[in-house]
Amino acid sequence: MNRIIILTAFASVSAVFALIAVGHMSAQSANESKPATNEAKPAEEKKPAEEKPAIEEPKDFEALMKSVGKNKLIIKKAVSSKDAATAKDAAEKIRYYASKAIEKDPKKERREAKDYKEWNAAMEKEAAALRDLAGAKTPDWEKISKQFETVTGTCDSCHDKYEEKDEDNKKPAGGGGKKKK
Ligand code: HEC
Repeated sequence: MNRIIILTAFASVSAVFALIAVGHMSAQSANESKPATNEAKPAEEKKPAEEKPAIEEPKDFEALMKSVGKNKLIIKKAVSSKDAATAKDAAEKIRYYASKAIEKDPKKERREAKDYKEWNAAMEKEAAALRDLAGAKTPDWEKISKQFETVTGTCDSCHDKYEEKDEDNKKPAGGGGKKKK
């Protein structure tokens, strides 16, 4: 009789221990699996949608004008191949460079000349108009090429008066097109 009681008591105690052990184990494994899922999340953080490429800051006025000239050629090609996105991007670059041109210009007499500032402002304004035309839902290529001519007209006006030529007048007229007579 005593033995039965002892055995029963032992069995109950073991059962309790077994239950505690199982409970502990499952609690542990639950804890272990958590950090694993937590770790996975930050890894897939989203990159912000890429905006259009930032425009490189020109190192000086000459570099600025060279970039303007490069973008003028890019637009010329884009207009003939009817690539509106490229034309829009390059027109925005010219607008941006125009907005920086006066502050980058090393020559005070140019920076302060009324006509110089006006031609510069015209380049900025007309390039912005070109950018908007090229960015239209249905680009009107006739308007775009007319507007492109208006933009290059501002280059020519300013270059005719202000772009420095060497003595033999051989320096190319800044991509503005016209050569001085
Ligand atoms: C407000 C005046 C002004 C306007 C507008 C202007 N430029 Fe110029 N650009 C200059 C001056 C001044 C120089 C000469 C810089 C020098 O020799 O120091 C120049 C030089 C250049 C050069 C030669 C850079 C080099 O030294 O290799 C290019 C290319 C050029 N311009 C392109 C353009 C284009 C394209 C436009 C129109 C979209 C334009 N520019 C509009 C004033 C202007």
